[in-house]
Formats: sequence, structure tokens, C-alpha cells
Amino acid sequence: MSAAQLRILESFPEPEFTALRDAAFAEFGSGSKQLSDVLADEASRQSEVPKAGSPSPQELRTGAFVDNRLVGWSYSRVEENRLHMVNSGVLPEFRGRGIYSDLVKAAISHADAHGLFKIISRHVPSNNAVIIPKLRLGFIVSAFEYSEVYGPLVHLTYLIGEKRRELYLARSKPLVPSNEPDQGPS
Ligand SMILES: CC(C)(COP(=O)(O)OP(=O)(O)OC[C@H]1O[C@@H](n2cnc3c(N)ncnc32)[C@H](O)[C@@H]1OP(=O)(O)O)[C@@H](O)C(=O)NCCC(=O)NCCS
Repeated sequence: MSAAQLRILESFPEPEFTALRDAAFAEFGSGSKQLSDVLADEASRQSEVPKAGSPSPQELRTGAFVDNRLVGWSYSRVEENRLHMVNSGVLPEFRGRGIYSDLVKAAISHADAHGLFKIISRHVPSNNAVIIPKLRLGFIVSAFEYSEVYGPLVHLTYLIGEKRRELYLARSKPLVPSNEPDQGPS
């Protein structure tokens, strides 16, 4: 458990969120026009969310606060029966304290509480800082993709519920015993 306090928000506070997002993604390079276009599109769609009432169940915005300062966030949306973790980040000086791991655990709790089947996300394969915490929390590598915008991507999936996880484990046994015929792809 990190020292950050997590709060589910209707919208991220501005200008703090824009400054945090720019700092968290700074190492990805300012030359990536495509990436800034995608992030700007996501930001503009966030502003279309109705302001009144409780947070929309179709979207999950979680802010991580240390001494009331926004130091990390995670944004996800519901797509059919799954939660898509779209983007997350933690300020460089607050990394390595488990804040992102707590944000992922909050996403798992939210998806479980809302009856969703799984959580999905897509990552640059070299981004160990995001892939390793997720694997440690039970995500599995579920696919690879070549994206025109981002290049090669690895897909991670978290299956909700014991039965789905047991089925996955049964299906993903790496070895077929030598006395049984191989009946499928390996
Ligand atoms: C990815 C990111 C959110 C991780 O945040 P974080 O709060 O530092 O992550 P955590 O502290 O929860 O990490 C937990 C574990 O991940 C592993 N880990 C974290 N950073 C790592 C790194 N750079 N390389 C290898 N493993 C790493 C460690 O095993 C760590 O556990 P440990 O401290 O017990 O050894 C943060 O690095 C970040 O904001 N990166 C830039 C934005 C980004 O890439 N966002 C994700 C794509 S949208």
C-alpha cells in the first residue's frame, strides 16, 4: 500500500491534471505528434462528460493524492463488458512507491464491483514500469499488435473472477503430457 490517498473523481482538477500528464509522459518525447493528438482527443472527450451527479459508471477517473497534491492518475472506460485502462501516470519523483499498483488495484475493484468480465490495456513492450506492476497483480499477456500510431504493442488482460482465471490457467498449460495426443496449437 502506497502513502497516496486515492479518490474517484468526476473530472480531474485543472490545471493540475494537464501539468501532471505532461510531466508523466515527458520521457516519451515531445516529437510524437501522433501521441499528443491522441492525448488531446482523450482530454477533449473527457470534458464532454456531464458535470452533474455522481461519477459516470462508464468511466473511471482515479486521482492519487499526497498531502492533497495530485501526483498520479488513472483513466479507464467501460467498453461492453470490459474495463479499458486507457492511460495512467505518476509524477517522476513519486514513482517506485506503489502508487500505480494501488491505482491498478482500484481499477480491479471497480471492474469487479460493476460485474465486468475483464480489464484490458495496451502498452509499448519496453515500458517495464507499467507492465511489471500489472503482471505482479495478476494481468496476463493476451496479444501483440502493430499499431500505426504507437508501433508494436503488448496487450495485457486481467480476468475477473476465480472461474475465468482457473479456465485460463487450465488452457495455458505449457506442456502436453507425452502419452496424450496434441489436439491444438502450442
Ligand atoms: C508506469 C508508472 C505509472 C508506474 O508508476 P509507479 O507508481 O512508479 O509504479 P509502482 O511503484 O506501483 O511499481 C510497482 C513495481 O513495478 C516495478 N517497476 C516500477 N518501475 C519499474 C521500472 N522502471 N522498471 C522495472 N520495473 C519497474 C517494480 O517491481 C515495482 O515494485 P517494487 O518497487 O516492489 O520493486 C510510472 O512509471 C509512469 O508514470 N510512467 C510514465 C507514464 C506511463 O508510462 N504510463 C503508462 C502508459 S499509459
